[in-house]
Amino acid sequence: MIPIIIDCDPGQDDAVALLLAFAAPQELEVVGVTTVAGNVALELTAENARKVCELAGRSDVKVFAGCPRPTVRPLRTAEHVHGKTGLDGADLPAPTMKLQDEHAVDFIIATLLGHEDGVTLCPTGPLTNIAVAMVKEPRILPKISGIVLMGGAIGAGSTTPAAEFNIYTDPHAAETVFTAGVKLTMLGLDVTHQALTTPERLAAIRAIGTPVAAAVAGMLEFSGKRNAERFGLAGAPLHDPCVIAYLLAPDLFAGREVHVAIETASELTMGRTVVDWWGSTDRPANATVIDRIDADGFFALLTERLARLEG
Ligand code: BDR
Ligand code: CA
Repeated sequence: MIPIIIDCDPGQDDAVALLLAFAAPQELEVVGVTTVAGNVALELTAENARKVCELAGRSDVKVFAGCPRPTVRPLRTAEHVHGKTGLDGADLPAPTMKLQDEHAVDFIIATLLGHEDGVTLCPTGPLTNIAVAMVKEPRILPKISGIVLMGGAIGAGSTTPAAEFNIYTDPHAAETVFTAGVKLTMLGLDVTHQALTTPERLAAIRAIGTPVAAAVAGMLEFSGKRNAERFGLAGAPLHDPCVIAYLLAPDLFAGREVHVAIETASELTMGRTVVDWWGSTDRPANATVIDRIDADGFFALLTERLARLEG
């Protein structure tokens, strides 16, 4: 049983990551869900996370709102991908479960300090909350079992030619996290662009026939539309659930231990993850960068797990 905190900015694919985690109660203990500003504003990510908990019948999960903007740069949201609500494509009712009063950063700190065996952090949005927690309370560092994050790219960016959205949105936070000396696993665009929501895969999810499955298929059809067209792929990349799938079935993935630096100076390449894939420098490895996924295995896992959720 791996205790995890999911730090997210739902976002349709964040929502599917949450659902996949809820569908694995034997393997993952979701200690809490923290939200951050990213795909949409903080108020919406905090509301959306609770909508998704309720969709999965998990109103017992504690949801905390965190930082309302990146640490240094202004917030640039992505409604052009995710729609006005951040969860367009599913018509989920307003949540009745309450948002926790504690700030997400304080929850992350208190949970880590109070946990004997350590907790794995699963960020699927900008790294603001995680970095602020590290700065506010450095004693958490040895308590972090690992950070498995969606963000960055070895190759081309997506938000800019150089950078992926989560790292681009708060590159300074990313730099803090990547230089913290904790065990990091990076699942970037190189891997998520192999995990495509083809019409067949979405049909298999829809065919489950539950409200959860209908919501997932609807959301991914909505958010995928623009990306599939834009990238000219057979479907849209499914980003954030890769983080949870990695915890559940690491054998579906492969990568290498390398050094990753974060660009925070040049406006042209701001937020680029500079991955030393070929060992061109003598900088020691600070991350496991994943570059391969068994996409059929991943979608089989996702579909089989979603079918377990009653909602
Ligand atoms: C990442 O950015 C957001 O649009 C998604 O939720 C994902 O976390 C992909 O670049
Ligand atoms: Ca996200």
